[in-house]
Amino acid sequence: MCGIVAYLGDKEAQPLLLEGLRRLEYRGYDSSGMAVLNGKGLEVVKKVGRIQQLERALSGQPLHGTLGICHTRWATHGKATEINAHPHTDASGKLAIVHNGVIENYGTLKKKLSDKGFQFRTETDTEVLAFLIGFYFDTLNSETENRLEMAVMEALREVTGTYGLVAIHEDQPGVMVGARRGSPLVLGIGPHEHFLASDVSAVAAHTQTVAHLRDFDVVTIDRNGYRLKSLSQNQAGLEISQIEYQSGVAEMGDFPHFMLKEIFEQPVSIQNAVRGRLNLEESTAQLGGLNLNPQELREIDRIVITACGTALHAGMVGEYIIESLAHVPVEIEYASEFRLRNSPMDRRTLVIAVSQSGETEDTLGALREARRKGHRVLGICNNVASTLARETDGGVYMYAGPEVSVAATKSFTSQTIIFVLLGLLLGRMRFLSASQGRGIIEAIEALPDQITQVLKQSSHIRDIAKKYSHSHSMLFFGRQMQYGIALEGALKMKEISYIHAEGHPTAELKHGIIALVDEKTPSVFLCPKDGAYDKNINNLQQIKARKGPVIAVATEGNEEIVQHADDVIFIPEAPEYTAPILSVVALQLFAYHMAVILGKDVDKPRNLAKSVTVP
Ligand code: M6R
Repeated sequence: MCGIVAYLGDKEAQPLLLEGLRRLEYRGYDSSGMAVLNGKGLEVVKKVGRIQQLERALSGQPLHGTLGICHTRWATHGKATEINAHPHTDASGKLAIVHNGVIENYGTLKKKLSDKGFQFRTETDTEVLAFLIGFYFDTLNSETENRLEMAVMEALREVTGTYGLVAIHEDQPGVMVGARRGSPLVLGIGPHEHFLASDVSAVAAHTQTVAHLRDFDVVTIDRNGYRLKSLSQNQAGLEISQIEYQSGVAEMGDFPHFMLKEIFEQPVSIQNAVRGRLNLEESTAQLGGLNLNPQELREIDRIVITACGTALHAGMVGEYIIESLAHVPVEIEYASEFRLRNSPMDRRTLVIAVSQSGETEDTLGALREARRKGHRVLGICNNVASTLARETDGGVYMYAGPEVSVAATKSFTSQTIIFVLLGLLLGRMRFLSASQGRGIIEAIEALPDQITQVLKQSSHIRDIAKKYSHSHSMLFFGRQMQYGIALEGALKMKEISYIHAEGHPTAELKHGIIALVDEKTPSVFLCPKDGAYDKNINNLQQIKARKGPVIAVATEGNEEIVQHADDVIFIPEAPEYTAPILSVVALQLFAYHMAVILGKDVDKPRNLAKSVTVP
């Protein structure tokens, strides 16, 4: 994962680099570092922990210079220690690189360099790459023009794996070289300055003119501008685009955490996902970005949804929604499995890749594999400037706004409502009547107010969380469209509160899970009034018979449930395809309050990063 920012211009680099790095902290936060080139040569500062540690160190000992690189790390090779943090230097100490990705053949390269007498200081793959580039740099004549660029290219020809990287060298003080393969790198172009960064958010406050490097691109920046080369045969010019910069959108406002702010944004983010996409006259949805004409939409006879984590759970709910509304068979596949599998699919199978960030390595791997086999791939994505947005044949943007908290919340509900829109669109082309279509539209339009009703119960949910805050383990159960919510509720609980939590289809309880039930293990039961309600109540009683505490998420007005469950969170009455959006909001709040009560770092849970850009 990791985040990179690099700057070359006429201003002091340090403040710009730090500001960019703070915006990339979502990509990893176990250590960070900066290197600047100035009259004294190469100066490097690294710190373990959050970016504040680096800021603190630099405030006492600022790095001066107008060319610098910095990095926030999520450890892949080697522990989160100062020595393993980036930038890494080469054997001479004159070259520094920051790197995002994984050098798969680093063992072989390390051996080759060790045989030449090089001695490594760290366990990281990046240090090997720094040494390799340094090795080629030193073999080139000191008069060689483009010496750093040539050394980078020479080294990368030997590399297997992924990289977004930037290199600088003391002996070429006005130059930085960036390269990309598999890990994103964006060039920001200003009047007298250039940036390289993992993500546009790191540069957007300074320039809105950007170009996304493509795989195998190598860009060399000096005081006169930039020049592009490629490690592949098919070099094309960079596509320069203008991005929109909205200052302040990623501020916390009056909320104590981004997660809570994002949970409370959901009445609006749902509206944003739906805006302009309902066709009231024809009682259907309109999703222009799919780039499919009505005939092509009618011909789809199977859908494969692929994603990771929370996005996968939204896809699981989407599977039930589309099958129920449109009668099109849908399968959901972990992107990490799908990309390696030889899943039989025919020409009429549509693949949908779902990702908030649009940068998740496994999801990109899955979409590329599907496209390689000739399938049409659509994306459901929040980040309009992402790799996924660029590489899919069409899709639907979520317009949820920046999601900063590592624990995904509003992106889940936006993804789920987009599946309802898709189900409505495909359904109206098949079996759904106009009045059924109207009913779905009404249910969609009711959602923002209904979510607000759930949010109003935040303090009640906090009380429940407090009551169970001594639990070591929790079980989450749901059937059909609520099954994905059980998984999502359990994921939220474990990732921010570190309480062991498992989600299961309710009826599986009897097939083994019930062995975990005791007085100290609460079960969260998703049991709104739907076709599975009576069965759910039977299962709930099986838990109560074994003295297991039960927290029910049930439909408002259901008076019977209070006799069965120890605690109840009520959600407004809604059809089965929108009810998951309401029950998940309740579980997001449950996990949030639990984590706060337990004193955990809600927005930056341990070991996690917002965007998983390594396989
Ligand atoms: O950016 P993506 O939606 O592709 O991310 C997928 C998962 O990494 C992500 O949902 C992860 O599971 C979150 N931490 C869940 O809260």
